[in-house]
Amino acid sequence: MTELIPRPRDVVADSGEVRLTAHSRLYAGSATEGVGHWLRTVLREATGLPLREGREPDDTDGDGIGLRLGPGLGPEEYRLVSDRSGVLIEGGSAAGVFWGAQTLRQLLGPDAYRRAPVNRGRTWAVPHVTIEDSPRFPWRGLMLDVARHFMPKEGVLRYLDLMAAHKLNVFHFHLTDDQGWRVRIERYPRLTEVGSWRTRTKFGHRASPLWEEKPHGGFYTQDDIREIVAYAAERHITVVPEIDVPGHSQAAIAAYPELGNTDVITASVTGGTALSVWDSWGISPNVLAPTDNTLRFYEGVFEEVLGLFPSEFIHVGGDECLKDQWRVSPAAQARIKELGLADEDALQSWFIGHFAKWLSARGRRLIGWDEILEGGIAEGAAVSSWRGYGGGIAAARAGHDVVMCPEQHVYLDHRQADGADEPVPIGYVRTLEDVYRFEPVPPGLDVSAARRILGTQANIWTEVMEDQARVDYQAFPRLAAFAEVAWSALPAPADRDFADFGRRMSAHYRRLDALGVAYRPPSGPLPWQRRPGVPGRPLDGPPPNR
Ligand code: ACM
Repeated sequence: MTELIPRPRDVVADSGEVRLTAHSRLYAGSATEGVGHWLRTVLREATGLPLREGREPDDTDGDGIGLRLGPGLGPEEYRLVSDRSGVLIEGGSAAGVFWGAQTLRQLLGPDAYRRAPVNRGRTWAVPHVTIEDSPRFPWRGLMLDVARHFMPKEGVLRYLDLMAAHKLNVFHFHLTDDQGWRVRIERYPRLTEVGSWRTRTKFGHRASPLWEEKPHGGFYTQDDIREIVAYAAERHITVVPEIDVPGHSQAAIAAYPELGNTDVITASVTGGTALSVWDSWGISPNVLAPTDNTLRFYEGVFEEVLGLFPSEFIHVGGDECLKDQWRVSPAAQARIKELGLADEDALQSWFIGHFAKWLSARGRRLIGWDEILEGGIAEGAAVSSWRGYGGGIAAARAGHDVVMCPEQHVYLDHRQADGADEPVPIGYVRTLEDVYRFEPVPPGLDVSAARRILGTQANIWTEVMEDQARVDYQAFPRLAAFAEVAWSALPAPADRDFADFGRRMSAHYRRLDALGVAYRPPSGPLPWQRRPGVPGRPLDGPPPNR
């Protein structure tokens, strides 16, 4: 039963088991009441047992569950002891207790993940075991792109549950892009009235001739966001919102054309005078104009964003900002001169630097994709290293915090096998084993720079994932391997025991089944998971490591 994922630091198994019965109680000590509430809710649903409130950890006749803070444990560390006195989970904080509760759920078997009992007569047992465990990294992230394809709120809440089940704790919420603006901003209603939908959508890679000829859209109200943030907090997950500037902004420009480079916009690829929310994929040349008006507008956006998201880090994107419009726009060129800047890269750096200072004055910190290093990075800013390790290494050496999410390793939109039946195959083959052997800290990084690696993150870009089942297919089972990389102190990649991971995955697939996750089966896609005739863009060979 101890086929746990992610693998704990120390497991000492004993013979015997704790049986949960109708008499079992659940005690939650001071500061762990929230975890108690969560655990009682999910276990009542799955088992049908009442799990009445216990008054102290050991008033349980050896058949109960106790939760409490434990002295001397690190903030996310926990110790789970299942023995003749029952099950006791102690953590250095409520978060540690919560991760221990996740382990307990795994120990109960796959049906502990169901929403209602499937067999009321069965026994529920926790094997006698002592587990001591703590995460390798404080940032164990998942980025979800809800801009290219919208994921309704219920789906987002479900992903937070799936993250929690894998001990992931940072949800990077990619809320805006060329193809959609997904968060209601009260002072700028057109961002969602106009920017949250498009009339049709490219089906497949951008070179595909196919279109989904129906409107696509959706957005989260501010109460939806508050609910998502609170739901995440109950699961000890921080939501880091991303509002992308100055590139990936076409949906915003479609809503408020004055945000764009109006003196050159018709000379670009739009083919018309007014921009619309983009219906295809790639990198749009339509980027924000470097005006005071744009800065004030986005300050207004970020003011509302700060009110919604308590996260210390606020992601401002900063990636793939094509400079073509700035090069040919007389207004942008005049702005470069007026600001005394060297070139368009410096203009991008000025733009990001403005928001780094603005956020820091409000007690927050900016994080951006590694392009924010170009032209100089603002003090205190952190970097999501996506184009490889290089940006992250440079940033860490310069004393900046880094989240390692290199596209060569942890972009889950990339295909996971080389078969012709992979749905809309994109990029390089990155198998379950490849992800299992991903190492977030590049070798050779000195100790002080390595300490700057806050952790790692898997990214899910949804251009070719039109619904939740497609997201599940790309995310799983690889997210389970990723979770182990982020949580467990694994040896160097070549020494990792993938056979052992595979053995534990056999049990984990049963948990994913109970959770209703539409993962890619090891034998390949099921017929309805294929997308015959929809062109992707598979790339050959090993991914280039930058
Ligand atoms: C990115 O993949 N453009 C961050």
